[in-house]
Formats: sequence, C-alpha cells, structure tokens
Amino acid sequence: MLKGKTVIVGVTGGISAYKTADIVSRLNKLGANVWVVMTNAAKEFVSPLTFRTISKNPVITTLFGEELANSAVPHISLSQKADLIIVAPATANIIGKLAQGMADDALTTIIMSSVCPKIIAPAMNTKMWENPIVEENCSKLKTVGFNFCEPEVGLLACGDEGSGRMSEPKTIVERAVEFLTKKEKQKDDKKDLVGKKILVTAGGTQESIDPVRFIGNRSSGKMGYAIAKAAADRGAQVVLISANSNQTAPLNTTLIYADSSQAMYEEVMKHRHDNNVIIMAAAVADYQPKIQFFQKLKKDEDEFSLDLKKTKDILEELGKSKNGTYLVGFALESDNLIENAKEKLIKKNLDMIVANEPSAFGDDYSEISIVDKNDRIEHFCKAKKEDLAHRILDRIFIS
Ligand code: CTP
Repeated sequence: MLKGKTVIVGVTGGISAYKTADIVSRLNKLGANVWVVMTNAAKEFVSPLTFRTISKNPVITTLFGEELANSAVPHISLSQKADLIIVAPATANIIGKLAQGMADDALTTIIMSSVCPKIIAPAMNTKMWENPIVEENCSKLKTVGFNFCEPEVGLLACGDEGSGRMSEPKTIVERAVEFLTKKEKQKDDKKDLVGKKILVTAGGTQESIDPVRFIGNRSSGKMGYAIAKAAADRGAQVVLISANSNQTAPLNTTLIYADSSQAMYEEVMKHRHDNNVIIMAAAVADYQPKIQFFQKLKKDEDEFSLDLKKTKDILEELGKSKNGTYLVGFALESDNLIENAKEKLIKKNLDMIVANEPSAFGDDYSEISIVDKNDRIEHFCKAKKEDLAHRILDRIFIS
C-alpha cells in the first residue's frame, strides 16, 4: 500500500519511544521506506539498533554522522525525499523547539527543511500537556500546518492518570496511510451523493430576553457548514438551516436562517419529510426565557433573576416518528464522552451520533468519535472540520 513512499519517523525522549518500534514495523510491512531519526534523549529509552533492525535503514542520530555520508547536504537530501514526517513520541521540548523555529540537531533540522505533511504524536505528563505554554506551541504549529494525533487519556508512566499518553501506533499509522495514499481526498472529490437529500442544521441559537439581549452559546457553525458544503460538493441536494454563525453560505445549498430554537424547530419540521438524512449539528439552546420582554429592561434592581423554560428538543421530536429518515445528532460532552453520547443516541432514537468536546467550539479543528446504533465506535484524531465532515458523510452513506 505504501510502496514508493518515504517516511521519516522522528523519535524523541519519552517512555513511549518503545511503542514507536511498532509504528516503524507497521509502516515497513505496508511497504514504506522508513528512516528513523533519533534525538539524544530518545537513545536513552530505545537503542538505535532496534530501529535499524526494524526499518532496515541506517538510523540518524546526529547531523554530521556517517549514516548519509554519500550525500552532500544530508539533512536536506533526506527531507526532500520524505513524503511524510511523523514525530512519535513528541515531547514538550521538541514541540517547543519546532514552534520557535529552532534547528539544532538532526531531527529539528530535517523537519525545518521539509515541505511534506507532518504528524506530531505528543506524549508527556498531563500537567505538561496542559501547560499553557505547550498549548500555545501546539496551536502555533497547527496554524502552520502541522497535524496532531492528540494524546489519549489513561494511566501514564509516572503513575498519574490523565491526558498525555501517546496515541496508539495503529491510530498513528492509519493517519499516516490517509496522508500517504490520499485515498480519502480522491473520494471526497467524487460526486457520490447525487440524488441524496440532506438537511443540516448549524450554528448557535439565540433566545431573546428583550430587544437587545439574548441567551446564546459559543457555537461558530463551522462543523455544520462544513458538512453542508461537503455534501453539496459530493452532489447531494442540501438544505442548511442555520442559527447564528458568521460562516459563508456554501455554494449549491438552500440556506434558511432560524435564529432561535423555536424558529429552528419550525423550519426543521417544515422540511423534515423532504430529506433522506437529517444532521443536527446546531447548538440548540436547552432553555429560553419564560417571558420575552418587548421593551429594553432597565437596571432598576440590585438583583435580577430570569425565569427559564425548556425549549423543544428538535432531535427528540424527530426521533419519535422517523419514517425512514436517517437521523444524526451531535453530543457535546465535557466528560464521559462515549457513555453520554450513547445515552443520547438511545434516548433520541438516533441512527448515529457524533461526539466531541467543548474545545472544538469555534475551532477549525476537532476530534470526534462516531457512534452508531449498532454500537460501532470510530475515533478520528484531531483534523480539519472540512475533512471530518467528509468522514461523517462516509459513515452515513458508505459503510
Ligand atoms: N438538540 C436539539 N434540540 C434541543 C437541544 C439539542 O435538537 N433543544 C440536538 C442538538 O442539535 C444535538 C443533540 O440534540 O444534535 C445533542 O445536543 P446536546 O446539547 O449535546 O445535548 P442535550 O440533548 O441538549 O443534553 P445536555 O445539554 O443535557 O447534554
């Protein structure tokens, strides 16, 4: 599958460096030409001989070593050959160095001089991973095109439990295959949804308090708009019902604005029977003011409380009489992601639910888990919402 592809695997100093041997082995079995580059700290954890044996290529450990003695400018020659660079495990140190543009050893120099896609698989203690400086460095790298295979939550080598464990080798290699084969991209260009009718909701509703104030949420609408665009690009007939969002209307979609939960309820009910699939990506308010004031409220009192009542749950309503419509919901959960998503899937009688975390709000990237009614769970590493939109459509229509 990866014949003719050159992959550089950068290994930095973390205990999960032993798992990188599995990554190299998997890539090798898929036919890739794998070159391992190790930092000094990495050598403390795994011997270069291990990687040399598995990759069947010399292991690069210094900028001026013998490994690439035949080429005039070794780091340039290798980085130009590469179709993909993976750094696994990536410590806080390498992330910091890359974010600052440093090139003081073989690995950083090779990365700095390369133009191919890069996948970073961080691994570190939870406190380090959550350190705002590390977070800022990661964001900076993401904005210049680095791809992240976000660490998983679990028991760490230091005994702590939390986020920071390197993503599984299998996941990292799947991501690598995606980049290297561009299979998914080619599929995204196909017109495979011609004849399908899809209703997508997007954005965050605003529940009016008085003429100038409302209860709202931080949804940007990016995910819903990306799904609508992806579906239209693939030939589907798309109705996009949008609450508040500053996204541009995608081409070839029918865009209907519905700024409040009630307006969205009415529009969805109006169009529900014309569609084969309904994807509720909108962040619909759960509560709305009991009374809506038509004059601007004055700040007469020191304290003020607002009575709220539940809004109509649009998805739950749709789930009561589906008539063959395939129903997709989103679940935004700060904890027990999969468990809570499954509960919503059952409660609302959905066919599929896309679970994500609040950090995805407003961001161009998201990390999602797709759970379907047959209890099949699929996790997608952090990726652009445009790409995830295609993966969601693939799961609905292809598998
Ligand atoms: N949803 C809806 N109507 C509502 C509230 C939510 O159709 N009044 C839909 C959302 O569009 C989403 C799914 O229900 O697809 C789940 O929304 P979420 O906010 O995650 O969950 P809730 O059901 O609102 O429950 P909670 O806020 O308690 O987690």
